[in-house]
Amino acid sequence: MAYASQQFFLQKREVGLIAPVLCTLRILGEDDIGEAVTFHKRITDEIGDAGFFAEDNTIVESIRGEGAVSGIFAEGRLIALRAVSYVKEYVDDALEDLGLDPSEAGNTAVMDFCVTDSAFRGNSIQFFTYLFMENILYPNRYHLHTTVSPKNIFSLTNILKCGFHAMRFKSKYGGHPRFVLYKNLRKPMAVQTRGHKEILLRNYDYHPKVFADGYVGYKVKHKSNGMALLYGKPLVVREESKAS
Ligand SMILES: CC(C)(COP(=O)(O)OP(=O)(O)OC[C@H]1O[C@@H](n2cnc3c(N)ncnc32)[C@H](O)[C@@H]1OP(=O)(O)O)[C@@H](O)C(=O)NCCC(=O)NCCS
Repeated sequence: MAYASQQFFLQKREVGLIAPVLCTLRILGEDDIGEAVTFHKRITDEIGDAGFFAEDNTIVESIRGEGAVSGIFAEGRLIALRAVSYVKEYVDDALEDLGLDPSEAGNTAVMDFCVTDSAFRGNSIQFFTYLFMENILYPNRYHLHTTVSPKNIFSLTNILKCGFHAMRFKSKYGGHPRFVLYKNLRKPMAVQTRGHKEILLRNYDYHPKVFADGYVGYKVKHKSNGMALLYGKPLVVREESKAS
């Protein structure tokens, strides 16, 4: 299926200057693989910390059909990438994380990663490229899974803004702490903000306890003593109240 490309201006930041630059967002094809892999490697090398952002990815498999990759181009080069994966190993891991039945594999997608060039950060790219991908995934791939490091505050903030909820806190990818996040496109979940809890992100021992009490994480908040995750209980809509 062909998807239309989109054009818009984003703000590019340089030393002493901020300037609008024409950008194009589109789904990547076979010819883009080399540039996409190189761009992703450059950003992961810049980060240089697998505890924060892991280098593993399925760019090649996703572009070849086991997922999808979108890219934003500006000034003749890639400035942002977002990948969604249907690769079996990733999907099986997601089903396990989310406690979903293996029969749901064909309806599950893993939000593999989003990376943006540092000169273009601040344009909400992680948010709007997610919406672009949601348009491709809906209605067939509706169990959406992703993970994020509690140290990656920018990404955690954006993923929650995209409507994901933190469901678990566990060690992944060779011993790195990660929040497991989930969004179901067919059964949107409302979260009760009254009686919410605020748990500092660095309080690693406490997150599993809050999840065990039935809470989910829905927002990041800047507090005077550090960044916190806000937790609330999902709103359970009873069948009879829906019918009335
Ligand atoms: C996470 C990431 C994709 C967010 O990019 P984005 O959507 O372009 O960023 P946002 O528009 O949300 O940025 C909001 C603000 O945070 C700042 N910001 C975002 N990421 C930042 C970072 N890594 N370091 C410092 N500041 C950052 C932006 O400059 C912006 O500041 P402003 O409000 O003063 O303009 C980007 O930081 C990135 O590529 N990080 C490395 C890879 C990564 O961690 N990916 C996410 C996991 S898959």
